[in-house]
Formats: sequence, structure tokens, C-alpha cells
Amino acid sequence: MTREEALDSVKANVENENLVRHMLATEAIMRALARRLGEDEEEWGLTGLLHDIDMELTGADMRSHSKLGADLARELGASEAIAHAILCHNEAHGVPMETKLDKALFCADPLTGLITTAALVRPDKKLAGLEARSVIKKFKEKSFAAGVNRQQISLCSEIGLELGEFIELGLVAMQGIAADLGL
Ligand SMILES: [Fe+2]
Repeated sequence: MTREEALDSVKANVENENLVRHMLATEAIMRALARRLGEDEEEWGLTGLLHDIDMELTGADMRSHSKLGADLARELGASEAIAHAILCHNEAHGVPMETKLDKALFCADPLTGLITTAALVRPDKKLAGLEARSVIKKFKEKSFAAGVNRQQISLCSEIGLELGEFIELGLVAMQGIAADLGL
């Protein structure tokens, strides 16, 4: 499966533009993580790009969300490693995370929301001028983007990154595709 095919499939299954953007942002962070960790950038990118492909099909029903997603990814020709990461990024299934790829997706997923919200509260609503230290400060403010799971983001330590480095890597990755994200 090429990246183009994966994106076409995402767009065919997801109408909500913000959800597509969330997957593009997750892809960008996963690619940056793969480069940082010396992992397979294409595989990690596809994992991020596809991870919520079933969100509208399952109506966000957490009992089926990510099970269907893993099946769809397999049908598209994704590796078993990608399907596993997608499956276990939803804790509702009780499937334990095993690989670095599993853990990377799990902690990258909520980071997109923190960074997006940090951009949207700026006067220009843009990512360009946003600094990592500002996002780190907002991470510590529990009332800011309160729905963002800080504990989940903090699991970056399990793939060998300190929180500050992870947030900066995620911010730079998202800034690199700011136009695609509308930010
Ligand atoms: Fe997600």
C-alpha cells in the first residue's frame, strides 16, 4: 500500500475534515519519531495516517473502534505490526502494547490535540509562531485542553524520549505540514 492509497482510503471513510487533519498530524509525528528512533518511517507514518480510519464507521463506539480499523488496514495491505498498533491504541480492547510502534502511536495520538489547541488560542491561530516551551507550559496547566490525556502523552518515556523533546518533535512535525492542517 502506498501513502497515496492510504490517504485516499482515509478520505473515503472519513467526512469530518478535522478528523482527517488529526490523522495527518499523527502521521507527521509518527514519521518524525521514526526518524528520531531509526525506525521504518513509511511503516510508522502509515500507522499514524490510518489509525482512526474507522472512527465514523463505528460511530466512535469504543467497543468496535480500532478493531474495525485494524481490519481495514489489513485489507488495504498494511503489515500486521501496523494493524496491531491500531488495535491496541484503544485501551477498551485490553490488548497490551508490545512494540515501540504500538507505544509510539499511543502517545502521539493525544499530542496532536494539545498542539492544535495551543495553536488555536493564539491571536493568529497559527502553528508557525508557537514555541515548544509554550506547549510544555500548557501541558502542565491541567485546565488547558482538559480532555487531552497527559498521562498518555507522558508514555513517550517508554520509547526513550523525555517529555520536552517529544513535545518539541511533535510541534516541529506539525509545523512542517501546517498548511495541510489549516493551522
Ligand atoms: Fe486518534
